[in-house]
Amino acid sequence: MTSPSFAPRVFSGIKPSGGLTLGNYLGAIKRWVGMQGPDFETIYCVVDLHAITVWQDPAELAAATREVAAGMLASGIDPEHSILFNQAAVPEHVQLGWIFNCVARVGWMNRMTQFKDKAGDNAEAVSLGLYAYPALMAADILLYHATHVPVGEDQKQHVELTRDIAQKFNHDFGREFFPLTEPVTEGPGMRIMNLRDGTKKMSKSGESDMERINMLDDADTIAKKFKKAKTDPEGLPEDVAGLKARPEAKNLVDIYAALSDQSAEAVLAEFGGAGWGRFKPALADLAVDKLAPISSEMRRLMADPAEIDRLLARGAERARGIAAPILKETYEIVGLVS
Ligand code: TYM
Repeated sequence: MTSPSFAPRVFSGIKPSGGLTLGNYLGAIKRWVGMQGPDFETIYCVVDLHAITVWQDPAELAAATREVAAGMLASGIDPEHSILFNQAAVPEHVQLGWIFNCVARVGWMNRMTQFKDKAGDNAEAVSLGLYAYPALMAADILLYHATHVPVGEDQKQHVELTRDIAQKFNHDFGREFFPLTEPVTEGPGMRIMNLRDGTKKMSKSGESDMERINMLDDADTIAKKFKKAKTDPEGLPEDVAGLKARPEAKNLVDIYAALSDQSAEAVLAEFGGAGWGRFKPALADLAVDKLAPISSEMRRLMADPAEIDRLLARGAERARGIAAPILKETYEIVGLVS
């Protein structure tokens, strides 16, 4: 449980390591929009320093940073209500990140499945940053004493590591200084899979563009991708149990459910027994209906990068207002003279 002395505060972030996908939207941004309101203070970040753990072309990195910010704004993140900024503009992230490099244990890092997946057989040649990445992610969260972190399923392990880091810091220094942050992962959009292989996650960096829906895809492209999405010879089952061991079928039902704010059960109550020839066009129409207004607003915002930069800079200033005193106190606790 989170200590009651911490005000409810949400922090989450997206790496600008390419364009936004439907996975980012359903697993993260759509839910972030829903958490804006009186219950939480909300802080959302384009985590550019995380992106450079693998090579990024500099011009593309800057463009992707603005695209991700535009995607958040176009989806309904309100920069007056939420704090929206890019990580590099708030140097306290890196400063706390270093302290956490010294708190986290190598054994903990070795258990991170995402590192193992990304490094593959090439672990000796990847950057040191990729290995240390989860400690910087813990710093992103704890720099704001965030109590709740809405993420997709793939990031849950990193939020659990954040709790371990907070706990060890609090224990080592004998102060309940950092909260034990809760990952918020519920609903059908938590794990959107690749349209060509339902056992792999939909990601910005997969090889083929046909395996993902990009937030900037036009209506024809969305329809084509769903039409060609892998399925199995059976149609839609009458209930959720009938999706077992059918990852591609489950994924399409989950996408429909997440886009329409329903449960998978409700979707099957409507479509159970239907063939893919009926379901796929309905799914494509729904996706276009939800995504087209967002992508056109994204394009409008991206046409004025100076305005995006202005909004990000204002957000960074507000973020520093929270981060700087927490970092200062952390330095004092650790005994760093500054
Ligand atoms: P990233 O940039 O890979 O993804 C951003 C968010 O989108 C979610 N997501 C998905 N959800 C469902 N299905 C998918 N296929 C899918 N793909 C991505 C992710 O779970 C995530 O919520 N390490 C993080 C960024 C980060 C962060 C943080 C997040 C850095 N610091 C602090 C929260 C708090 C990452 O690489 O996300």
